[in-house]
Amino acid sequence: MSDKSHWESVYRRKGSAEVSWYQPHLKQSLLLISEAELPTTAAIVDVGGGASTLVDDLLVQGFTDLTVIDLAASALVQSQERLGARAKGVRWLAGDATTELLASVSVDLWHDRAVFHFLTSDAQRSAYVEQVERCVRPGKFVVLSTFAPDGPERCSGLPVARYSPEALAGALGPAFVKLAEAREHHTSPLGAVQSFSYVLCRRR
Ligand SMILES: C[S@@+](CC[C@H](N)C(=O)[O-])C[C@H]1O[C@@H](n2cnc3c(N)ncnc32)[C@H](O)[C@@H]1O
Repeated sequence: MSDKSHWESVYRRKGSAEVSWYQPHLKQSLLLISEAELPTTAAIVDVGGGASTLVDDLLVQGFTDLTVIDLAASALVQSQERLGARAKGVRWLAGDATTELLASVSVDLWHDRAVFHFLTSDAQRSAYVEQVERCVRPGKFVVLSTFAPDGPERCSGLPVARYSPEALAGALGPAFVKLAEAREHHTSPLGAVQSFSYVLCRRR
C-alpha cells in the first residue's frame, strides 16, 4: 500500500477525533506560533495538517493567509466540512510535502506536527528540508514536532524516526537557528501517553 493509500484509508475509517494524534486544540503548536509574533497577514502553512483544528484556531485569531497541505484529500475534506463556509478562506492542497507544492520564498511560518517523523530515509528527509529551505522566507519561521526519543516507535502503524529538540533543529540544517523548544506528553483518545519534541526555528 502506498503512503497516500494508507492515509486515505485511515481518514475514511476514522473520524478526526478518533485518531491517536488527536487533540481538540494543538496547544503547544499554538504557543510556539505565538512566539513568532507574526502579523495576521502572515502566510502560514500547516504541512500534513490532516483533519487537525489548528486551522480553525488560526482563523479565530484572525489569520487571513492560511494553507493546509496533506497527502490525504479525505483528511482535508473532514476539515472543510467542520469549518463550513469558513473553509473558503483557506487554501487546501492535496499532495506530498516533499515535492514542490508551494511557490518559492512564499511562507512566513511552516508548521508540521507529526509528519516529519514518517520520513525515515535520508533521501526523504533531504527532499523535505529542500522544500522548507525553498519556501520559507529569510528571517521567518518553522514549527516542527515529532515523537521524542522516549516516544513510540510507530505511529498509525508506520515506523517513525524520533528526535530530541536539538536533533530536530539539527535535521533542518544550518540554514535554520532554534529559537525555542518544548516537550509534550500527549494522551491519545485511547489513553496512551506519547512523548513529543517541538522546536521553533528561524531561517537565517
Ligand atoms: C499523524 S498525522 C498528524 C496530523 C496533524 N498534523 C495533527 O497534528 O493532527 C500525519 C499526517 O501527515 C500526512 N502526511 C504523511 N506524509 C505526508 C507527506 N509526505 N506529505 C503531506 N502529508 C503527509 C498524513 O496524511 C496525516 O494527515
